[in-house]
Amino acid sequence: MKRSSRSHHAPKPATSRAHGWFFTFEGPEGSGKTTQIRKLSEYLTERGHTVLITREPGGTPCGDAIRSLFLQTPGGHLEAETEMFLMLAQRTEHWRKVIKPARDAGNIVLCDRYIDSSLAYQGYGRGLGADRILSIHQEFLGDCLPDLTIVFSIDPRDGLKRAQAGGKTRLDRMESEQIGFHHRVHAGYLELSHRFPERFAVVDASGQIDATYAQILAVVEAMHPELLT
Ligand code: TYD
Repeated sequence: MKRSSRSHHAPKPATSRAHGWFFTFEGPEGSGKTTQIRKLSEYLTERGHTVLITREPGGTPCGDAIRSLFLQTPGGHLEAETEMFLMLAQRTEHWRKVIKPARDAGNIVLCDRYIDSSLAYQGYGRGLGADRILSIHQEFLGDCLPDLTIVFSIDPRDGLKRAQAGGKTRLDRMESEQIGFHHRVHAGYLELSHRFPERFAVVDASGQIDATYAQILAVVEAMHPELLT
């Protein structure tokens, strides 16, 4: 395997880490995260890693029930704080029962949306403030941040078009929001990436699948070279 031939220059072997890896994938609607997560998972699995793919809202039975309530709530409107607390509730179940145990066992967890969706959608999109949402997570969940967050950047209008072209017959509660909301979310992600450059990487998700995937591999290789050797 390539690891031994390259071992003299650098990457830390996986065994020297206290735990595995937790990567999250973020972005506006229709940014193509699901396809890319599947491709990256296959690539990492071929290199001998055990990979868990999961998503939010969801990831546990309780989380799936909250997901339905969140996306299709009868009556359509939820208070911003209700959204935030629903997301915090499903994340508590997900982090404690699924993500942390899998990561601590040495696996790679790839999660489609996580805490930064709350910061972008509820913090920036709804105006609750990203700092408040981050601090409430830290107060109740402690150190629950991902090792790496890849933001898929795409013009929200194009993303929504893609989501619709993907065969969806009915838009969910969040997709139905006005375009200004989706622009605030997108701008929020970019601001987060500037604030936390050690954890964030932004890829241009407006092109073809392979073009986005090449950027993702480059990011993983640059920020976690130990995984690709
Ligand atoms: P989903 O269909 O999974 O969106 P996508 O396919 O674009 O990933 O729907 C999840 C929706 O929930 C999406 O609109 C983002 C929103 N959301 C929040 O507003 N806050 C959160 O904390 C999370 C996890 C998701």
